[in-house]
Amino acid sequence: MTHHDLILRRATVIDGTGAPRYRADVAVSGDRIAAIGDLGAHAATREIDAAGKVLAPGFIDAHTHDDRAVLCGPACMACKMSQGVTTVVVGNCGISLSPTRMSRRPPPPLDLLGGEEWWTFDSFGAYAGKLRADPAPVNTVALIGHMSLRVEAMGGDTQRPATDAEAERMRARLAEALAEGASGFSTGLYYPPNILAPTEEVIAVADALRAAGGLYVTHMRDEGDGVLTSIEETLRIGRESGSGVVISHHKCTMPENFGRSAETLPRIAAAAREQRVAFDVYPYAAGSTVLIPDRLRADVPVRLTWSVPHPEQAGRMLDDIARDWKLTPREAAERLLPAGAIFFQMDEADVRRILADPLAMIGSDGLPHDARPHPRLWGTFPRVLGHYARDLGLFSLEAAVRKMTGQTAAVFGLIDRGVIRAGAFADLVLFDPDQVRDAATYDAPTLPAEGIAETWVNGQSAFAAGAATPARAGRLVTRGRG
Ligand code: ZN
Ligand code: CU
Repeated sequence: MTHHDLILRRATVIDGTGAPRYRADVAVSGDRIAAIGDLGAHAATREIDAAGKVLAPGFIDAHTHDDRAVLCGPACMACKMSQGVTTVVVGNCGISLSPTRMSRRPPPPLDLLGGEEWWTFDSFGAYAGKLRADPAPVNTVALIGHMSLRVEAMGGDTQRPATDAEAERMRARLAEALAEGASGFSTGLYYPPNILAPTEEVIAVADALRAAGGLYVTHMRDEGDGVLTSIEETLRIGRESGSGVVISHHKCTMPENFGRSAETLPRIAAAAREQRVAFDVYPYAAGSTVLIPDRLRADVPVRLTWSVPHPEQAGRMLDDIARDWKLTPREAAERLLPAGAIFFQMDEADVRRILADPLAMIGSDGLPHDARPHPRLWGTFPRVLGHYARDLGLFSLEAAVRKMTGQTAAVFGLIDRGVIRAGAFADLVLFDPDQVRDAATYDAPTLPAEGIAETWVNGQSAFAAGAATPARAGRLVTRGRG
């Protein structure tokens, strides 16, 4: 009789490939899936009756800012494990916690990750070493951020394009990080001061990806009027650096651009026949980032998520704060800085069209250090499974799971993850398909999702009975290296 660590009996398996669900017993030994099928002749140390529940590959959060959260223990990652997430991609939007140290508060948007006390890694190798010494409860895939590279290479003088020598310094630092286990390069060209970086600077740095095979991942320069031009810029950077590209949190912002996903998605689909391209998306019609007073508009409602000088205002609408202070919204925003906010700037029909696209991967873009975060931090994955797949019927549960597992693993080159198959890593989530739903809202943004029974990372139970376990079984996962 074969003995395993764990057997889940009579589970409904949704395997992450998009294939139809099937009933089976699934056995786990060590960090791997050992067997799938009728395992009546097998026994295990722990057996779970999974009848009526779905067993899926653990979800891969394609877009996060968890660079710091993965370093601070299971409680910090409960927001993700409570959703069934077992792997996070960190370092997005040009923002990564390495390879640069800070002696004073980093400029926005780098400060999304926290004040200078968190910026202690002058190489990616040092960051990776910390993850190995003090493992995270989930797996980590890391990107290196353009802005982090710029601050270091340009000696803090970033309000201009980089010189050739500075771009070469960034390229070399990126190449070093890729050799130390990073999986790609991210930009946030939307943000000042990165917006001053010309396409040629980005191509020069991204050249490091050619040899390493890493991805180019971008918060594009313009997601509004210029969204198509930005897509062309992204595709060009991918072609000229020989890398696959990922468009971050694809959206069409501002009321005058509502509906334009009907133009962007066909363009991306056409490009995908010529080069490697994918995108991530979160299931909400509002974005969230640092507060930039220059970019405020009367027709985009803003809700404050954090403020250094005025933490007591977090959670309130900017218009209400401005009225109380007898200021214009712009003046109030200036007084709140440094700060972050939620921007209600998208169209629900675009959100649905983008989510349903076959190239879409689910990424939360959650901001774990915000006082009153966007609900995507705690709700993204169950919202896709419950609200969009089950309740609205936007796509099948199998398609929804694929967008958060197999598809993402394929794009990021994660070997033996994102799929339920004998021999694959035992990153798993067990959930109730009738109960799964997001509970977090803009008013109550940190309520854990419902219907997630248990989450396993590399075979270890990471979230069970509504709480994170003490396990720290996560690994640094490197593109193409398992
Ligand atoms: Zn972004
Ligand atoms: Cu982001």
